[in-house]
Amino acid sequence: MRHVLDIDNLTPDDLTTVLDLAEVVPAPQVMAGRGAALIFEKPSNRTRNSTEMAVVGLGGHPVTIRAEEIGLGVREPVRDVTMVLAQYHAVLGARVFEHRVLEEMAALDVIPVVNLLSDVAHPCQALADLLTLRQRWGALAGRTLAWVGDGNNVARSLTLAAAMSGITVRVACPPGHGLDEVALDAARGFGPVEVVATPADAVAGADVVVTDTWVSMGQEDQQAARLDAFAGYQVNSKLMSGAGPDAVFLHCLPAHRGEEVTAEVIDGPASLVWAEAANRMHAARGLLQWILR
Ligand code: CP
Ligand code: NVA
Repeated sequence: MRHVLDIDNLTPDDLTTVLDLAEVVPAPQVMAGRGAALIFEKPSNRTRNSTEMAVVGLGGHPVTIRAEEIGLGVREPVRDVTMVLAQYHAVLGARVFEHRVLEEMAALDVIPVVNLLSDVAHPCQALADLLTLRQRWGALAGRTLAWVGDGNNVARSLTLAAAMSGITVRVACPPGHGLDEVALDAARGFGPVEVVATPADAVAGADVVVTDTWVSMGQEDQQAARLDAFAGYQVNSKLMSGAGPDAVFLHCLPAHRGEEVTAEVIDGPASLVWAEAANRMHAARGLLQWILR
């Protein structure tokens, strides 16, 4: 059974297969008559809508569930919720505060489990980002990706996915907010990942610059300290001018203009954020096909 808790649950070849499947038109109706349960402990715009429409695109029926309506781990243990949803659905997606909840679901091995974002990883976003870059460049290998800002869930999955795809990764994060050694080691098992001292070092000549919010969901109580810590890590026109001449900009969204990115960059010609958002749906269709094969 195929569980996708982070992108390295796929091999590099699997990852390419998922990107290929994302572009198959018309989409095979592999979910005809089948359901997908999508549990959300946190808000979502892109992940909910793109995953629901991916399921619809494969002929299936999505059921989105706010965690509080089923009392995940409160009204019923995670185990019992998973066992029951496995009776009705072909796949279970979940957005959770604690990654271990996904591990508990997957360990039961009764239904394929997909991480729709946890505190640790966001593999569906990484797939969409690579799809967006592949559409722009034609091929991924040999390119350079700069991550500037928080070494968070999105950074972890994208660093892994990029390294798996032959992209060199350069990461610049403020002290205390970098990718952890486990994530770096995992990514370095696939390809070069450099931790550099400054955002300018990261973007120098890069083909793509990527950032994310400085305050992730669940960190709202740390907002003031985080805004302080990340000052100097904003992706603005001056920083982008140090990247390669055809460099593009990605952001998973939601974005905070004036914090991690300026309006000039995210709403400017280098930005691919709308294609990136659209590709959440296509990538999810590819991933679901691969899982249900
Ligand atoms: N990028 C992303 O996961 O967006 P949502 O939080 O709106 O799903
Ligand atoms: N790092 C962000 C991503 C949101 C899509 C968060 O976890 O809130």
